[in-house]
Amino acid sequence: MKIGVISADSASESRVALTPDAVKKLRKLGFEVVIQSGAGQAAYYADELYQSAGADIANSSTEVVNQSQIITTVNDLPMTVTEHLTAGQIVIGMLDPYRNAQLDTYAAKGATAFAMELLPRTLSRAQNMDVLSSQANLAGYKAVLLAANEYSRPFPMFMTSAGTVKPAKVVILGVGVAGLQAIATAKRLGAVVEASDLRPAAKEQVESLGGKWLDVPMSEDEAQKAKATGGYAWTPSEQYIKDQAAVVDKALSNADIVITTAQIPGRNAPRLVHAATLAKMKAGSVLIDMAAGTGGNVEGSIPDETITTANGVRIVGAANIPSQLAAQSSDLYANNLVNFITTLIAPAATDAANTLALNLDMNDEIQGALAVTHDNQVRLAKR
Ligand code: NAI
Repeated sequence: MKIGVISADSASESRVALTPDAVKKLRKLGFEVVIQSGAGQAAYYADELYQSAGADIANSSTEVVNQSQIITTVNDLPMTVTEHLTAGQIVIGMLDPYRNAQLDTYAAKGATAFAMELLPRTLSRAQNMDVLSSQANLAGYKAVLLAANEYSRPFPMFMTSAGTVKPAKVVILGVGVAGLQAIATAKRLGAVVEASDLRPAAKEQVESLGGKWLDVPMSEDEAQKAKATGGYAWTPSEQYIKDQAAVVDKALSNADIVITTAQIPGRNAPRLVHAATLAKMKAGSVLIDMAAGTGGNVEGSIPDETITTANGVRIVGAANIPSQLAAQSSDLYANNLVNFITTLIAPAATDAANTLALNLDMNDEIQGALAVTHDNQVRLAKR
């Protein structure tokens, strides 16, 4: 059974779905692998490394699609590739399912498309397939470095003969996987860190990393709701949004660096920083909006652009930070994919002819959750 790797078709994507190491693992399992020439180049994986790992190189995406039973990709497939899919082929990637305009095409072609973002995250056997966590962890780290680079002062406190340098004040809004890593990284660089999230459970995590929790008042009703969502974001009331804006406004008036990470799967990111707050921030302060690609947490942020407001505040629209750590994020993403692909093989692993047999099972809690098209049907529940 052959697995193909399609090259990303966007200049802002440097990751590759499978690395040479992942190819070796898949070869050991009995798969053949074909890579579109140059697919790993931007992540520093040259064609020769794939060849040494046992992969074939194809000159075009069409060649990869024509040869492969399973097609791996970082983001959604380019339309020019989707049109060559045939019935029974499997596509695995971060397909951005709720905004994906190609699901009908995948279904019409008879392909089974697995969107890795839909993984049930609390399932312990699925944790080594969790692409959102593997990528967000790296992104949280890098966001702090991007901020440090944009900021015209240092992060740590220095006592020098020329005077004392105060530590940078960093505020993190949204304390999921990326936010926690951002807190840890900013603390390691010597910053003073404050953080907030609408999940009360995040308070303890923030404090255990040495951050100060920014508390937003919550009604009894909302506290119950927050508990009932099992640790995921809940829909805040108008009152909560107003109170949160006041807390954010006060914290940001004193902040040097702000990193926003709040996302809601399947919906636009919540607006957490408004123009009125930006107007009160210090000249030279820096905001990294990690949700810039899904609507933005910061008013006025533009994906993949850095803008400076009239009062000298820099807003970085960081739409795809993992791509800036392409070698490492590809390694972890590829490991996630190999772990998932392993579950697609029949328990007996091989059939009599010693070829791998696929074991597609929509009743399986992982496959069933990830499959957005199967049997000519779109299976994605509306949000
Ligand atoms: P995310 O990337 O979807 O969002 C980042 C953070 O923003 C989340 O903590 C979310 O609560 C927060 N947020 C969303 N809307 C907000 C708003 N209006 N105001 C303030 N904060 C807001 O989050 P991520 O990193 O994907 O994690 C989501 C959840 O999944 C978390 O509860 C996390 O602990 C959980 N998780 C569980 C895992 C496991 O059990 N193995 C693995 C990874 C994550």
